[in-house]
Amino acid sequence: MTETYEQSLVNNEEASEVVFAYHERTKHHFNRYARSLGHMDWANQPNPFRFYEGALQTKLNAHRQPRPLPYDRLYEKGNAPPQPLDLESLSDFFRYSLAISAWKQYGSSRWALRINPSSGNLHPTEAYVLLPPVSGIRESPTLCHYVSQLHVLEQRATHREEVWQYLMNLFPEGSFLLGLSSILWREAWKYGERAFRYCQHDIGHAVAALGFSAVLCGWNFHLVSDWSTDDVALLLGVDREDNFHEGEHEEAEVLAVVTPQTGVATNLPSLPIPNETIRREISEADWHGKSNRLSKSNVAWPVIEEVAAATRMPGIPAPVDSTKIHNDLLGFTRDLSTSDSEQIILQRRSCQTLDGASTMTRKAFLSMLARTLPGSHPPWNALYWRPRIHLLLFVHRVVGMRPGVYVLVRDLSKTDLLKSAWSAEFSWETPDDLSTEFPLFLLLEGDCRQTARSLSCHQDIAADGFFSLGMIADFSATIKEHGAPFYRNLFWETGVIGQVLYLEAEAAGARSTGIGCFFDDPVHDILGLEGNRFQSLYHFTVGMPVEDHRIQSSPAYPE
Ligand SMILES: Cc1cc2nc3c(=O)[nH]c(=O)nc-3n(C[C@H](O)[C@H](O)[C@H](O)COP(=O)(O)O)c2cc1C
Repeated sequence: MTETYEQSLVNNEEASEVVFAYHERTKHHFNRYARSLGHMDWANQPNPFRFYEGALQTKLNAHRQPRPLPYDRLYEKGNAPPQPLDLESLSDFFRYSLAISAWKQYGSSRWALRINPSSGNLHPTEAYVLLPPVSGIRESPTLCHYVSQLHVLEQRATHREEVWQYLMNLFPEGSFLLGLSSILWREAWKYGERAFRYCQHDIGHAVAALGFSAVLCGWNFHLVSDWSTDDVALLLGVDREDNFHEGEHEEAEVLAVVTPQTGVATNLPSLPIPNETIRREISEADWHGKSNRLSKSNVAWPVIEEVAAATRMPGIPAPVDSTKIHNDLLGFTRDLSTSDSEQIILQRRSCQTLDGASTMTRKAFLSMLARTLPGSHPPWNALYWRPRIHLLLFVHRVVGMRPGVYVLVRDLSKTDLLKSAWSAEFSWETPDDLSTEFPLFLLLEGDCRQTARSLSCHQDIAADGFFSLGMIADFSATIKEHGAPFYRNLFWETGVIGQVLYLEAEAAGARSTGIGCFFDDPVHDILGLEGNRFQSLYHFTVGMPVEDHRIQSSPAYPE
C-alpha cells in the first residue's frame, strides 16, 4: 500500500522535533553565541571553488554584451523574446546569476566576490544543469557542473536520450533543468552549528539570482515541488559518495525547470518523478570526474548532518497550497528606474559601513517594500508556496515616515493572526495617507536605532541605514502542517526577499547587506512572543555606504 503525505508526516513528527531542537540550539543569545569552533582554523579554510578533476570543461563567454533590459522589467514576465538554448545564452544565464563579479585585494589577501551574496563570502552553493544536446557541449543529454572561477561548465554525466525524453518531453524545446546543492562543510568551517541556516539563505539568494537571469534570457524559472531530495541528489550526482572527499559531500537542495517564455500564460506541466528504470539509468550513466579536495581536514558537526537528514523531502509529494497570493502592488507610486538590469546585477555588493546620516524618501521606501511582496511575476513565481515571511521593520531615516517599528504583512489574510499573536502594545496604525491596501502597519513609534543595533549582534549597519529589518516566519505551524522539509523553504523565502532588497538598494543608489548574525529570542521578546509559533530567521539593512578605498578591485574575468 502506498503511503500518503499525511501518513508520512506522522512518521515525520520526529523529524520536526529534530528541526525545532536544531533551531533552538543554534540561536544566538546576548550572553552566548551558537556553537562554533570559536576561532578561525585558517589552515583548513575550504577552497571556495569546486572542480571535478577529470571532467571535460566547456568555456562559457564572460564578455558577451547581453540584450539591454531596463531594471524594472526584471520583475515582469514575458517581455523578452526567449533566447535559444546554446552556449551563448547559457553564458549569460550564469554570468548574471552565480558568476564572479570582481576580484578584491587588500594587502596580501585576494578574494572573489560573486553575483550572488553568501554569508561570510564562503559560497556553499553549487549549481548543475541537465541539458539536451547543445552544440559545443555534447551530442547527448549531459549533466554539467558550473565553475564560477573560470566561468566553465564541467561535464559530469552523459545520459541516454531515453532519460531526457522521460523527464522533459512535456516541456517545450529549449527547456532544461537546474539543480542546486550545498557544501555544508564550507559554511560550518566558520559558523559551526548555525551554518545549516546560512546555507539555506544562500540557496534562496541563488534561486532569486537565477530567476532574474532567466528573465534576461527570456526564460521562466520554476522550482519543482514534489521530487524527493534523494532523487535530486541522484540526478545531480551528489549521492556518489566515492566521488567526494570525506566530510566534503554536497547536500541536494532544489531542482528547477527552466523553460522559454511563451508570452501566453500556460500552466507548466509537472516534471515526472523518476521511476525505477530511470533511476537505474541515471545511476549507471557515464559519470566523469572526482571532486577536488577543499580542506586538508574537517570538523564533523553532527547536528548539521541530523537537521539535513530530517529536512530531506520524502518521496511523497507534499500538498502545496497552490492558492498563491498576488499582492500586485508593483505600480504603487513608483518612479521607474533608469538603470539597466545587467548593470544593477553586476554592481550588487554588501556594505560594511553605512554613513549614519543619509535619508531616503517615503516613495522610494514604499516602492522598495512593494517589490518584496509576492506576486505572479519574477522572482516570486519561482516559488510554489504561499508566503510565510513577514518583515519587522526598524525605520530610522525615511523622510515622511515616523521613525519606529513597523510590520509589512506579506500575506494580508494573516493580519488578524499577527494582531492576536503579537504584543498587545502594538498600535497597528496605517501610516499617514497610506492606502489600506498596502500591508504596512506602524507598531511602535520612536527611535529604534539602538534596539536594531543590539538585536543584530551589535552591528552598526543595522542602525546606520535608512532602515533595517527582521524576517519573521510563521514557523512552527507551517512546519507542523507541511513537514520538516519546509524548514528549508522558510529560509529560501528569506533569501529571495534578501536578493530583491540587494538589487532594489542598488537601483535606489544605495546599498544593503544580509545579516545572519542576530540574537534570536530578544527579537521575539520585542514581538511579545514566547514559544516558536513565529521566529525571526534573517535580518537585513539598507542605507548609504561608506566605501573602503583601501580595497583594490580587478575584473572578474580579464580578457
Ligand atoms: C545569509 C547571509 C548572512 C550574512 N550575514 C552578515 C552579517 O551578519 N554581517 C555582515 O556584515 N555581512 C553579512 N552578510 C554579507 C556577506 O558577508 C557578503 O555577502 C559576503 O561577504 C560577500 O560579499 P558581497 O555580498 O559584497 O558579494 C551576509 C550575507 C548573507 C547572504
